[in-house]
Amino acid sequence: MFKLAVLPGDGTGPEVVREALKVLKKVAQLEKIEYSTREFDYGGDRYLKGGEIINDAQIDELRAYNAILLGAIGHPDVKPGILEKGLLLRLRFTLDQYINLRPVVLYPGVDTPLKDKGPADINFDVVRENTEDLYCGNGGILRKGTQQEVATQEMIATRFGAERCLRYAFDFCRRKKESGEGKGMLTLVHKTNVLTFCGDLWFRAFEEIGEKDYPDIKRDYNHVDACCMWFVKNPEFYDTIVVPNMFGDIITDLGAIIQGGMGIAAGGNINPDKGGVSMYEPIGGSAPKYTGMNIINPLAAVGALAMLLQNSGFKKAGDRVVAAIKATTPKMKSMAAGKMGYSTSEVGDLVCEAL
Ligand code: IPM
Ligand code: MG
Repeated sequence: MFKLAVLPGDGTGPEVVREALKVLKKVAQLEKIEYSTREFDYGGDRYLKGGEIINDAQIDELRAYNAILLGAIGHPDVKPGILEKGLLLRLRFTLDQYINLRPVVLYPGVDTPLKDKGPADINFDVVRENTEDLYCGNGGILRKGTQQEVATQEMIATRFGAERCLRYAFDFCRRKKESGEGKGMLTLVHKTNVLTFCGDLWFRAFEEIGEKDYPDIKRDYNHVDACCMWFVKNPEFYDTIVVPNMFGDIITDLGAIIQGGMGIAAGGNINPDKGGVSMYEPIGGSAPKYTGMNIINPLAAVGALAMLLQNSGFKKAGDRVVAAIKATTPKMKSMAAGKMGYSTSEVGDLVCEAL
């Protein structure tokens, strides 16, 4: 029995998760998957009522599940940073979800802001390191509030952290090549011309591991600023990208917008180790202003469900959900909330019908 923990979270999170679960019910019937779900109410409302966001015992409880589906984190009445750090980043770090996998795929019929680019051009994957870098929160403020104030925030790169992420990315790229979905090129994105310590560590690890264990994979390197330019000018150039956490955060928002926006972009926080628990999420925020209106696009959450299935031993079911998304997008007017030509629940129904 596949056990799924569901964290609908804040704002429009519950609405999009509801649609993803509707799709799960349908695909599970078709593919004869036995599963159970349990909902947890972690998020802004619970925090505002009781003070605690999530504690270690509660995180341990989540380890008993095969996967986690997350809606959205972020509440208009909670200061920015508190829930992000206290829940989203806390889960990523504590469950050691060291891979943040973000496919950048333009589905048929979806508008991209890029001129003269279509689904054949926008189809690559970003493997973002998810547990190190500026996200470690090392640093502090000295003489706060005075004219002599000093603030530091350290970029952390470890050989261990870089290596496990690089190996995942090389393996991922190889699997894509072998299944005919990729050209077998892995691009490391960093800023080695300025970040001469962290960048150097990543670059050497990339070269050593690639040369020794992945001679069949072509190695490519871009500085992060140039990478932003190429995302816009020649996205078709990319196959698989591997990138440290902070730069990965930035380029994946750019990736999301060229694939049609936050309504469609999904990601997975993956712990690929044996017994690891991974968490899948639509990468857009909680969109508080649309809450409860049934107008938000649920396809990012449905895409997150597809990734969850694909990575949890139900590849065929996951592929089936992706195919159903591809059959649904051409029917929609837009990927943006309120402009889809359908309500949130109608889009969920369309995906179910397409299944
Ligand atoms: C993301 C988000 C998070 C991040 C925020 C909400 C902490 O932007 O998942 O990309 O920076 O990783
Ligand atoms: Mg981000």
